[in-house]
Amino acid sequence: MKDSKEKLSGTTIALHWIIALSIISLVTVGVYMTNTNTYALYPLHKSIGMLIFVVILARVVWRISNGWPESAADHKTWEKKLAKFIHWFLIIATVMLPISGMLMSGLGGHGLHIFGLELLASTPNLDEPGKMIPINGPMAGIAHEMHELGGKAIFAAILLHLAGALKHHFIDKDGTLRRMLGARIK
Ligand code: HEM
Ligand code: HEM
Repeated sequence: MKDSKEKLSGTTIALHWIIALSIISLVTVGVYMTNTNTYALYPLHKSIGMLIFVVILARVVWRISNGWPESAADHKTWEKKLAKFIHWFLIIATVMLPISGMLMSGLGGHGLHIFGLELLASTPNLDEPGKMIPINGPMAGIAHEMHELGGKAIFAAILLHLAGALKHHFIDKDGTLRRMLGARIK
């Protein structure tokens, strides 16, 4: 089933909420583990980030084949433009974050593992236990910066996106949020 003005497809709704909840959790865990140096959470953050990347790519394919859903409400032109910009931003950021994460870890010599399944071996420095030999230190550093910046940017975009969704629901009282929750509107 394709998206329509009255009802969104199950695919759009499932992909939206699976990705939304995962991204919100990954940003929260990412900031927490980094600020508190909780290294035990790193493998969990990386594994879920790599698994959700597959779902993110499926959503990109779905968006390309299905197009963007038509607005549920009669938005003003500036609202339409802002919403479109944020939606594009969110989709692009959800692709960039796992890629920068994988580049940072992989090129930094930490390897890539999904719940213990090794995709790329780590390269430990045998002279300095606990340290890694980077495959490409400067590139890993750039990827690290991108991941950190991307994390802050997506957090701001999610807040704006959430504010928009709540405005539609409580102030404009239109069906935008209800449609994303599966309801048929008008
Ligand atoms: C959509 C997926 C992801 C999101 C939303 C996300 C988000 C974040 C955020 C917000 C931080 C905290 C950054 C900071 O404040 O310094 C972080 C840290 C980190 N992320 Fe991700 N991440 C994702 C996927 C990944 C993946 C796939 C990997 C690696 C395979 C990864 C590896 C890391 C590492 C190693 C850190 C800690 C960096 C440090 O110690 O400074 N992330 N992530
Ligand atoms: C915080 C809770 C969230 C709520 C209440 C929410 C609500 C909504 C609603 C109501 C729409 C439909 C907008 C329309 O019809 O014009 C929508 C679309 C969208 N949302 Fe969210 N959202 C949330 C979190 C997220 C997150 C975390 C992301 C991505 C990281 C995201 C990405 C998108 C995208 C890309 C669209 C465009 C339609 C699509 O591709 O599925 N949302 N959201």
